[in-house]
Amino acid sequence: MPLESIIKLDANENPYGCSPRVNQALASYPHFNTYPDNGQAVLRELLAGYAGIDAKHIVAGHGSNQLIDLVLRLLIDSGDEVINCVPTFGIYSFSTELCGGTLVEVPRDDDFAVNVSAVKAAITRKTKIIFLANPNNPTGTITPRQDTLEILDTGVPVLVDEAYYEFNGQTIAPLVGQYENLIVLRTFSKWAGLAGLRVGYGLFPARITDYLLRIKIPYNVNVAALVAVEESLKDIDYLMDRVKAIIAERDRLFNELKHIKWLKPFPSQANFILCSVLNGKASQLHTKLQDKGILVRYFDQPILKDYIRISAGKPEHTDALIKALREIGG
Ligand SMILES: Cc1ncc(COP(=O)(O)O)c(C=O)c1O
Repeated sequence: MPLESIIKLDANENPYGCSPRVNQALASYPHFNTYPDNGQAVLRELLAGYAGIDAKHIVAGHGSNQLIDLVLRLLIDSGDEVINCVPTFGIYSFSTELCGGTLVEVPRDDDFAVNVSAVKAAITRKTKIIFLANPNNPTGTITPRQDTLEILDTGVPVLVDEAYYEFNGQTIAPLVGQYENLIVLRTFSKWAGLAGLRVGYGLFPARITDYLLRIKIPYNVNVAALVAVEESLKDIDYLMDRVKAIIAERDRLFNELKHIKWLKPFPSQANFILCSVLNGKASQLHTKLQDKGILVRYFDQPILKDYIRISAGKPEHTDALIKALREIGG
């Protein structure tokens, strides 16, 4: 099967690509031979303007993944506990284990809402951080602001991962600095279509920013990513039109999936939809779709074994997926 005909709905990427301004600027950029500024001064100012937060609260990373890893390296010693509201994004547990931390898993409820009282009850003297992806990957669920505030009020560091912020507009970022235990992560991978260039950023209490800038690998965000951020921010209207198209397609995909009796889609505030496979095995459905050139995400883990996650694509991707699902049948 030719590469171009593969429909890739497995990694929540932006099907429209990046701003054309990024391609133009990178094609003529004259300084790839010099290292980036280790202190990220220009980049942090640009991000400060976009996020509406002073640059002293900002650190950029090689994707927000790198910042998850960096925060855990900073906060976790062997045996410290990390609270994870499962099912959720896999890097939280991956990096916790690499840092020698102990995972404390608090299951979400049947609709994948965070169980706030169970989170609070799971806190011990060893708890060093609580992860809250908002909206959550892979479920698409938003945590109500009141619930996040209640968890913040425990005083334990809380990392709110807003990788999909631009697809729903809900954010707790303005409270960074007011709460000494609030960290917010964002990325350019999804809304700006820059997943391949790897650029994310975090908003931290200023004290934590200082530590992170000291322990990060030098030159961690490359010059191409800096140029891409600069050009993306000059082209926000264009990019946000694409985001609107993706949201519209997500909603159409949800309605189409609802009509397939052997699937149960969950409402999502991100650019993907989690589906419970009611009839047959999710792993087999994943393979059958793959055989037809359509990639969706299957999670080989007990808590998600009956689910697939489908990224919102272009309208023609939805059409091809729905046709394939009907051919495969329940
Ligand atoms: C919740 C969440 N956080 C972070 C990321 C990683 O983003 P980045 O590409 O910036 O590393 C993802 C990517 O899928 C995600 O779903």
